[in-house]
Amino acid sequence: MSAPLRVEDMNVSFEGPLGATRAVRGVSFAMNRERLGIVGESGSGKSTLARALLRLGPGRVDCRAMTFDGIDLLDLSASAMRALRGRRIAMIPQDPAIALNPVMTVGRQIVEACRASERVAWRGAKEKAEALLERVGIRDPERIFRAYPHELSGGMAQRAMIAMMVIAGPDLLIADEPTSALDLSVRHRVLTMLDELVTERGMGLIFISHDLDLIASFCDRIIVMYGGRILETCAAGELDRATHPYTRGLLAARPRLEEPRRLLPALERDPAWLEDAP
Ligand SMILES: Nc1ncnc2c1ncn2[C@@H]1O[C@H](COP(=O)(O)OP(=O)(O)OP(=O)(O)O)[C@@H](O)[C@H]1O
Ligand SMILES: [Mg+2]
Repeated sequence: MSAPLRVEDMNVSFEGPLGATRAVRGVSFAMNRERLGIVGESGSGKSTLARALLRLGPGRVDCRAMTFDGIDLLDLSASAMRALRGRRIAMIPQDPAIALNPVMTVGRQIVEACRASERVAWRGAKEKAEALLERVGIRDPERIFRAYPHELSGGMAQRAMIAMMVIAGPDLLIADEPTSALDLSVRHRVLTMLDELVTERGMGLIFISHDLDLIASFCDRIIVMYGGRILETCAAGELDRATHPYTRGLLAARPRLEEPRRLLPALERDPAWLEDAP
């Protein structure tokens, strides 16, 4: 199968009073219908890259090429891009509580996401929404369906957002720290659902997380970012054998039950890693 997503030389910058911040620098990658993990320390540009894939601001995006399933994403009109978001490429944002509409019930938001992509009556969409809420471990889906976002716990809001983003059956899901607010058992349910969407429906998944062990066990391939650059790409099963000193540093900083330490090693950062290729 041909690669559904291809990105060539993406750069994203933010203008500020002290000049431009280059949050994403010369990023190129291609992915198939697979689970692609993105790791890197805080501020390395993971969320900015995720938003730029959907042409969402506020940064300025310069990219040589960005195609999805043969569609030139850079050439799409604003309205065609809006129609593609959610339906073909969906994103679970890093902070779902901010992303939910505060004046609309959670259920209505999920139903609208569903009805924007398929012709289905309100009742059918509601049943689908409640079934999805149950699938991500919400015990009383009917109450959550009627609730406003401020009435939800952080973990509930995160799962409501996940339900809203998968209900339209996207071909590619970008999940930015989708399980950060969830306890281990609920996290397992959510990961199982995402895994089923990949294996049964052939959905592509970009999974952003700080949890290297989770990414290594859940994903097929891993991109390591630093300062807006991709420093290394490796098969998930080979992360432990990654060679780049930055990746080795991230791996060494993981807490380990079996080897208690007083001091974690400082992460090595070399300015040369950020230099543009000649
Ligand atoms: N709206 C914005 N205006 C200005 N700078 C921004 C904006 N959003 C992000 N940045 C900058 O872009 C860089 C990358 O930020 P980004 O949010 O992509 O990092 P991240 O890898 O997702 O971090 P985290 O792991 O903490 O979520 C940072 O230097 C950040 O300060
Ligand atoms: Mg982020």
